Amino acid sequence: MQQAVSIGKIADHEGREVVLRGWVYNKRSSGKLQFILLRDGTGVMQCVAFKGNFSPEQFEALDRVTQESSMEVSGSVRRDERAPGGFELDITGFQIYQVADSYPITPKEHGTAFLMENRHLWLRSSRQHAILKIRHEIIRAIRDYFDDQGFTLVDTPVFTPNACEGTTTLFETEYFGQMAYLTQSGQLYNEATAASFGKVYCFGPTFRAEKSKTRRHLMEFWMVEPEVAFAELEDAMVLAEGLICFMVERVLSRRGAELETLERDAAPLEAVKRPFPRLSYDDAVKRLQAAGSQIEWGGDFGGTDETILSEQSGSPLMVHRYPSQVKAFYMQPDPERPEVALCVDVLAPEGYGEIIGGGQRLHDHDLLLRRIKEHQLPVEAFQWYLDLRKYGSVPHSGFGMGVERAVAWICKLDHLRETIAFPRMLYKIYP
Ligand code: 4AD
Ligand code: MG
Repeated sequence: MQQAVSIGKIADHEGREVVLRGWVYNKRSSGKLQFILLRDGTGVMQCVAFKGNFSPEQFEALDRVTQESSMEVSGSVRRDERAPGGFELDITGFQIYQVADSYPITPKEHGTAFLMENRHLWLRSSRQHAILKIRHEIIRAIRDYFDDQGFTLVDTPVFTPNACEGTTTLFETEYFGQMAYLTQSGQLYNEATAASFGKVYCFGPTFRAEKSKTRRHLMEFWMVEPEVAFAELEDAMVLAEGLICFMVERVLSRRGAELETLERDAAPLEAVKRPFPRLSYDDAVKRLQAAGSQIEWGGDFGGTDETILSEQSGSPLMVHRYPSQVKAFYMQPDPERPEVALCVDVLAPEGYGEIIGGGQRLHDHDLLLRRIKEHQLPVEAFQWYLDLRKYGSVPHSGFGMGVERAVAWICKLDHLRETIAFPRMLYKIYP
């Protein structure tokens, strides 16, 4: 096959004969001329066929091409300021791979349920394309951020005997006669690898059977989780704000066109600067009460509470030292106030709420054992985790950031379902 050029790089080929391969995004004809908008994944380009250059059969074949038909076109690249992208192709030859059936997603408005049923096709729209391009940029930025600081990527298992984040959201599965779960978080394993490498991160899919339907929850989501030996809560907070700034700057500098496609106002993103304000849980409760929330000290924030806090702030907000009772078993208590944990949630602004959760881990063996029992977790399954507190235990900290939450905020989306190609949602697994 002759090498096709990318529409995204078409400016490099001005005045030359090229081959393009892609799908028909849109088409119109006006007697002697046919205009085909071709998309190839890197861009969309207007291709023009003049009747006089083709046999009647050929021109008719071109006329029968429908939306999303797959084809190859060859022709010369001409600069045209009026064309989308600034260039046009004068078609001299073409080959049709397949004439598409009547495409269900037309330029008119469709309901979300219909679009989700057709998610496999919806992904071709300019909006979904832009979101997934930004998602990829965010993932690259995350990896660069940690790699450039000497972190080692160590993957953690998907099948596990351990409940990391409570027992109410576990997906259970049978593992050769034993009970296993799909991982809720790689953190516990990170704590083991951090004692080998110092600074590690894992990055993979995590699973939670969240039984409530919200715009902030998926059953399957991707989480990046760094873990650092000899690090305290404040170190984890500095690492987290650095990550967020790095990601946002990357998207602003490399994905401006996609933000524009989404009509995402860049100003609030440009305003994201370190250091982020720190707010203790105690003060957050006071703020929420003043804003009319029913929250009492000792309770966990609901979705609306997070929305209130993150709407009040133009910057990501770091809420720290929650009551231990609302947090996981592995949290290090504050030595000055043992009823609160050395933990942090980072709330994204503009009403998005929590995108990061983390903190300092319990590193004392006996207290950890007590907590495991208090949380009614099976001690045998945690023996290996307790071992880490017997062989060179050190203070260590880390956090987890949900990629979909970060994408939703940066793209300013209403719902997590658009942040991943094939979202797994409550009771829905098709397509
Ligand atoms: O706050 P979480 O539950 O923390 C942990 O899992 C820790 N073990 C992480 C760590 O310290 N290594 O989850 C971390 C993040 C949340 O802040 C959120 O961004 C995301 O994971 N998250 C979800 N994203 C989408 N759908 C869900 N159901 C999510 N649950 C958590
Ligand atoms: Mg959390």
